[in-house]
Amino acid sequence: MRSPALHEVKVVLLIVPVVFGHAVYCYSAIELNQPVEYPKEKYLDFIEIAHKYGYYAEEHTVTTEDGYLLTLYRMRNTTCRVFLTPVLLMHGLLLSSDTWLDSGPKEGLAYYLADNCYDLWVGNFRGNYLGRRHVRLNPDKDPEFWNFSFDEMGLYDVPATIDAVLALTQEETLNYIGYSQGGGTFAIMCSERPEYRLKVNTFIGLAPAIRMKFTRSIPFRVYSDLLSIFWKETKLLGIYEVLYRGSLLQRALAMICRLPGFLRDKLCVGVISLVDNYDPGSIQTETLRRLYTHFPAGTSVKNFVKYSQAVNKGTFQKFDYGREKNLVIYGNETAPFYNLKNLDMPSLLITGENDFIVDIRDVTSVHKQLKNSKLFVVKNEYWDHFDIPYSAYFPKLVFPVVHKQLLKYGGGGGGDGFQSFYFIK
Ligand SMILES: *[C@@H]1O[C@H](CO)[C@@H](O)[C@H](O)[C@H]1NC(C)=O
Ligand SMILES: *[C@@H]1O[C@H](CO)[C@@H](O)[C@H](O)[C@H]1NC(C)=O
Ligand SMILES: *[C@@H]1O[C@H](CO)[C@@H](O)[C@H](O)[C@H]1NC(C)=O
Repeated sequence: MRSPALHEVKVVLLIVPVVFGHAVYCYSAIELNQPVEYPKEKYLDFIEIAHKYGYYAEEHTVTTEDGYLLTLYRMRNTTCRVFLTPVLLMHGLLLSSDTWLDSGPKEGLAYYLADNCYDLWVGNFRGNYLGRRHVRLNPDKDPEFWNFSFDEMGLYDVPATIDAVLALTQEETLNYIGYSQGGGTFAIMCSERPEYRLKVNTFIGLAPAIRMKFTRSIPFRVYSDLLSIFWKETKLLGIYEVLYRGSLLQRALAMICRLPGFLRDKLCVGVISLVDNYDPGSIQTETLRRLYTHFPAGTSVKNFVKYSQAVNKGTFQKFDYGREKNLVIYGNETAPFYNLKNLDMPSLLITGENDFIVDIRDVTSVHKQLKNSKLFVVKNEYWDHFDIPYSAYFPKLVFPVVHKQLLKYGGGGGGDGFQSFYFIK
């Protein structure tokens, strides 16, 4: 039963503990100013989860041009003998490679791609708990480590990850699937490093965060605006990293979702609904319980400042440092705009009507600006942002469209449906 009025009441009841929890979390972040050591052995990592369900997985490290060390996983179904062109999955804000396994083998995109014999690669962006290493900088000691926003993820992380996958597979092209931030950063790469578009047969943007003019999520807007307004103060307090794995907030969420019974189900799903929206019955408690063992996975304050700019300006442009500094950095008082004209490979953008983070109007507007894209609106009026990786309805409502796009354009050759089958040694 869908009951929006009852939901409103629940949301209000939830705001109090969440706000209180957040206050405690912020206070502790200031007090401790150190990520709390995370009890790793308590939860399974990507490889362990893949193994648990009978899949093969391996781990690699990607080094970006500016020295960040990112964790990259490969996964496949061991019954496959030949493989289709590699597929690379990139996660969203505050998430990690775990995203794609959280909803389990009956629902998660990674399992479906592996079962269809794609050679599957799953990356991580700088700043989350699997991208918290650098050749020179120490994330716990050097503020310089946190001097990035999703601009740098698009400029460095996406190209470096693509190069790593191509080098490891000895293939010339791959297919890219980006969720939210994973889609926006892909568009940045196409704008800034157009040579990379020749390495990608097809781009699938799952609620891609390219334009965010109509973002309706109040908590998201307020949180990023506050960090933007008080950016200087956070630096004075020595806060460069926020919402990291191992923070009190993350541990509290993980704990709540392990509680027994009714309360747990309501609280677990309530937190997600607060940030995004409510799609009743769509996300299983078990999925959320897995999600909260590593969500939020951390990012820089500067990244949130950039999101605040993106939402308030409604444009797709580089980080705005203010007139004077822009002039020094960009040679112009205005931060340069990204252009979408080089995102010209066959693309598929997927969106839903109830997405409060990346609004359907923004995705539609981006779709109209692209030369070669298709738009797919999920046929469920309640479809929201977190439904993409976590909904139990994903296999039925979305996977067939993704699969069709990959079969048609995933082998390159202008959509002739040809796939380069290959063996893995
Ligand atoms: C792998 O693919 C086969 C064939 O599609 C399927 O029967 C099996 O359940 C999949 N999963 C695993 C873990 O092997
Ligand atoms: C942060 O990066 C910007 C842009 O790349 C640069 O101008 C600035 O000097 C950097 N700040 C620090 C503290 O490293
Ligand atoms: C500065 O940026 C504006 C807005 O993008 C543009 O119209 C203008 O031509 C730029 N000026 C220079 C000198 O590049």
